Amino acid sequence: METYEDHLGFKRKDLEGKRVLELGSGEREIFSKELKESVKDVDIVLLNPDYLNKEYRENISKQSNIRIAAIGQSLPFKDEAFDIILGLYSLTVFSAPYQNKEGASAWAKEILRVLKSGGKAILGPAGGGKDNEDAVESTKKEYEYIIKQLKEEKANVIIESYQPFSSKFIYNSRIVIEKPL
Ligand SMILES: C[S@@+](CC[C@H](N)C(=O)[O-])C[C@H]1O[C@@H](n2cnc3c(N)ncnc32)[C@H](O)[C@@H]1O
Repeated sequence: METYEDHLGFKRKDLEGKRVLELGSGEREIFSKELKESVKDVDIVLLNPDYLNKEYRENISKQSNIRIAAIGQSLPFKDEAFDIILGLYSLTVFSAPYQNKEGASAWAKEILRVLKSGGKAILGPAGGGKDNEDAVESTKKEYEYIIKQLKEEKANVIIESYQPFSSKFIYNSRIVIEKPL
C-alpha cells in the first residue's frame, strides 16, 4: 500500500468509507488486496478489459472482488457512482493517443462523469513511454487537449510531479482530477 500511496499521492485513511474504482487492476490485483488488508470500511470495484478473456480469468487471484470487464474510455456505471478513482500504471497503457486514437481523450470525460461531486481521480504515471518522437509529440498534444476539456467542465486538474519506477515516461507526474461540488 505504501507504493500506491507514494506513487498516487493519497493516504489510505482518505479511502475509509469510500466507494473506490480501480482503473486497470492488473493480473495480480495487488491494490485491492492491500487495500482490504489495511482499510476496514471500503468498497472497491476493479475494472480491467482483460476480464473478458477466459484464460485470464482463470489465472487471477481468488480473492472476492467486484470485477468489471470494460475499458476506461467507456465506463459501464451510472453518473456520480464513485468517490475516488485510482489507477497506477494503467493510464500509460490506455491513454496513449498513438496507440489508441479514438479513445485517447474519452477516458477523461468518463472519469468525470462517474465521479461524485467533490470526488477525485488520481492516475499515474502520466504520458506514454518515450518510444519515438511521434509518441512524445502526440501525447503532449493529447494531454493539452484533455486538460482543456476537463477545465471546460469546471474540473480542477493538477499535474503533480513524482518519480515513477522507470524514467521511460514522458512526464514524471500523475494527473489529479477533482470534480467540483
Ligand atoms: C500495468 S497493468 C496495471 C497494474 C495494476 N494497476 C497494479 O497496480 O498492479 C495495466 C492494466 O491496464 C489495463 N488496461 C488496458 N487497457 C485498458 C483500458 N482501455 N481501460 C482500462 N484498463 C485498461 C490492463 O488490462 C492492465 O490490467
